[in-house]
Amino acid sequence: MKMNILLAAVGLINIAPAVAIEMAGVNLIGLAADASLLGTAYTEFTSTSCGEEQTNYPYLDPPSLYWSWRHLGFNLIRLPVAWGHIQTALGGPLNETTLAGLDNLVDIITGNGSTVVLDLHNYARYDCAVIGQPLLNLPGAPKSVTDEHFSDVWAKLAAHYESNPRVIFELMNEPWGLSAFKWADTMKKAIRSIRKQAPSHRILIAGPYAATVTTWEIRSAVALLPLLDEAPVGQIIFDLHQYFDILNGGTKDCLAWELFWPAFQTVTTTLRNHNATAMLTEFGGGPNEACAAIFDHVFQFFDDNSDVWKGWTAWSNMRGDQAISPNASSEYYALTKVMSKFAPLA
Ligand SMILES: *[C@@H]1O[C@H](CO)[C@@H](O)[C@H](O)[C@H]1NC(C)=O
Ligand SMILES: *[C@@H]1O[C@H](CO)[C@@H](O)[C@H](O)[C@H]1NC(C)=O
Ligand SMILES: *[C@@H]1O[C@H](CO)[C@@H](O)[C@H](O)[C@H]1NC(C)=O
Ligand SMILES: *[C@@H]1O[C@H](CO)[C@@H](O)[C@H](O)[C@H]1NC(C)=O
Repeated sequence: MKMNILLAAVGLINIAPAVAIEMAGVNLIGLAADASLLGTAYTEFTSTSCGEEQTNYPYLDPPSLYWSWRHLGFNLIRLPVAWGHIQTALGGPLNETTLAGLDNLVDIITGNGSTVVLDLHNYARYDCAVIGQPLLNLPGAPKSVTDEHFSDVWAKLAAHYESNPRVIFELMNEPWGLSAFKWADTMKKAIRSIRKQAPSHRILIAGPYAATVTTWEIRSAVALLPLLDEAPVGQIIFDLHQYFDILNGGTKDCLAWELFWPAFQTVTTTLRNHNATAMLTEFGGGPNEACAAIFDHVFQFFDDNSDVWKGWTAWSNMRGDQAISPNASSEYYALTKVMSKFAPLA
């Protein structure tokens, strides 16, 4: 750094000024609102059952919700989808009902020049079975789920969205409780299968421990960085998440930015050294000053490091307790206002 400043001072290199982040927005979570941590659809987030427990099909977010965020200047929308909704039977065709609703939303968002992150929201699982790591399956898991199943759903999704470069494929939301190296191998196969169908689409990959920034350097870096070799520079993007409370999203409180900053800095430096990029596709907080303050810090950090950080999407749960909202009457609008200051199109 000192050397750069010296060289800049004598006019040998230019230090580029910070450039605002390219893409930012929110999650519209309807199609994953009934996904459990064990990878089952039609149930509750914390359910311990491996099978479906309810029959109501999840909701499709209305396009008006996209427009509300777009009018605030946002241009990145993450669409989490439970695997069981997009592919009713493992290895089978994509589900036409889900696809029709999803396509409608994707076409509206990308037709308006915004970008979609299509996120398979299954925690590296399907009905209590861990993808490609059968020894870790829970006893109640009705079947095992292989790397081939995972590559198959992605090949079909990639073929479907091949003509739309504004769709980014997020292989898997928040893997947890598995071997990072085996998981990296599973993702490698899926990346290859996507690239056969959609050779230049961007692909988001996440490591274990729910993709958290605070664990990434120790738990993910060594296993996942080699996947950069699977595609040209910029095509593979690292997906990270971070909630700012003591339970990583379990409460509405936020700790101080100073506790998170070192991990953000470390990850950023490692990624920069590998010519790699990242997005923070989940974070959240309650409607209070501590959370507003940390939002402000983290967005500023991303703007200052926008060579590495390409986008962020807040977790916008319209029913749960991280209900970031575009509605000015919502108490959460205090957080939306901080987000808006950093909105790319504002
Ligand atoms: C597609 O999903 C819908 C909603 O869950 C379901 O009713 C339908 O049976 C599925 N279609 C197929 C062909 O599995
Ligand atoms: C997206 O929609 C907004 C609001 O209608 C409009 O102003 C803007 O021109 C659209 N952008 C593109 C690229 O279509
Ligand atoms: C980093 O990426 C740029 C293109 O974006 C390329 O010119 C450069 O050679 C890459 N450096 C390394 C170390 O891979
Ligand atoms: C905004 O929130 C208020 C108060 O909760 C509610 O009455 C109103 O219908 C909401 N507006 C929209 C567009 O959702």
